[in-house]
Amino acid sequence: MPAIVLVGAQWGDEGKGKATDLLGSGVDYVVKFNGGNNAGHTVVIGDQKYALHLLPSGILSPGCTPVIANGVVVDLAVLIEELDGLEARGVDVSKLQVSANAHVIPPYNRVLDKVTERFLGSRKIGTTGRGIGPTYADKMNRVGIRVQDLYDESILRQKVEAALATKNQLLVKIYNRRAVEVEEVLEELLRHAERIRPMVKDTALELNDALDRGETVLFEAGQATLLDVDHGTYPFVTSSNATAGGACTGSGVAPTRVDRVIGIFKAYTTRVGEGPFPTELEDENGQFLRDAGHEYGTTTGRPRRCGWADVVIGRFAQRINGITDMVITKLDVLTGLETIPVCVAYDVQGTRFEEMPVNQSDFHHARPVYEELPGWTEDITGCRSFEELPVNAQRYVRRLEELMGTRVSVVGVGPGREQSIVLHDMLAPAAA
Ligand code: GDP
Ligand code: IMO
Ligand code: MG
Repeated sequence: MPAIVLVGAQWGDEGKGKATDLLGSGVDYVVKFNGGNNAGHTVVIGDQKYALHLLPSGILSPGCTPVIANGVVVDLAVLIEELDGLEARGVDVSKLQVSANAHVIPPYNRVLDKVTERFLGSRKIGTTGRGIGPTYADKMNRVGIRVQDLYDESILRQKVEAALATKNQLLVKIYNRRAVEVEEVLEELLRHAERIRPMVKDTALELNDALDRGETVLFEAGQATLLDVDHGTYPFVTSSNATAGGACTGSGVAPTRVDRVIGIFKAYTTRVGEGPFPTELEDENGQFLRDAGHEYGTTTGRPRRCGWADVVIGRFAQRINGITDMVITKLDVLTGLETIPVCVAYDVQGTRFEEMPVNQSDFHHARPVYEELPGWTEDITGCRSFEELPVNAQRYVRRLEELMGTRVSVVGVGPGREQSIVLHDMLAPAAA
């Protein structure tokens, strides 16, 4: 039975939360394996709207066990707040498991995230300010604090002291901020430790055992391919591996166990924060997409930058992640456009690129080469089968499928759980 990885194929906010929720009732575990509360997933079930940041979207499916795996960075206060918020709305959160090896976001890293951005000035990344980058940097520098450290106070104290020895130098001498006291950090971390204690597990063992029992495990990426620290538009990326490989290192489930990779591709493109974006529209078309698609960040409320679909990126995501099924989301947002441009290649100072240029400077200069596809005017939000879609909407999907070389298995026509057209069952075992 399958282990399935679900990833964003663009720069985030493709609708991963909705897709995960759609699959949630058919899977036994949903695992968040990277990132932290920089993610923002909006899930709409009936007349209820949920905004999730740290918790995997599978938490909304009764019967499904949500897991925060080792690759995640956890802000304890945010975790408790999200759990309390969902509980107050009647969601059962009692099954949540948190890896003992996940790293904790200490308060000084939130401060450092913000002050380093301020210091970068016009070269800033546009981070979410949640302390994500500094916490992953600590992990790599081997001065991070793990969930398991919360339960050994003397170790925790030693680690916080060691981290603050250099952090305070930075804060005071470089960034002109006040020093952080060891006691205040310990107080914040320990305040939540007991509440989380029953959830702390060896999640790698748990997930491998579940797969051995024939259960289905869905790995839900935060962020997306082009925000991946290795494969994205570095340095304008997040600090974790948001691509399919991250599901293995971020959870302790081996690549040999992964059967399927689902890529979520929005019918157009958005990006939050700084960095190159070849198909970006700074005109009325961009505003049209922002308004029609409600493209404002779930986490920071920032207006998202909008542009046409880019299949060069789609193909790149397909390759890097080994995507077996594409979910095209938000097709309904394109309704009403006379023609819809799709970027099929780039022009970089006179040279045509069919694939993502390896050189970042080339990507900064990439000008989109468009293919124009005919639009449609009919409202498609009520369509539930592919045949019900207007012919030009069907053609748009088929052309994306052809250009990206991956089968389209679901098409999203609205934010609601039921507003999905299923062409192929993504949970069925892959054909031999
Ligand atoms: P995520 O970060 O990838 O989970 O995506 P977000 O939740 O940040 O952003 C996607 C937004 O689009 C959310 O508000 C969803 O409710 C909404 N959404 C998802 N799929 C569709 C769709 O097919 N059509 C429309 N109109 N909205 C959608
Ligand atoms: P979901 O999971 C879109 C962006 C930030 C910034 C960069 C680095 O909802 O798709 P960070 O705080 O991670 O160090 O910021 O990454 N970013 C996202 N953009 N969707 C997200 O998550 C994002 N998470 C981070 O805007 O440009
Ligand atoms: Mg989002």
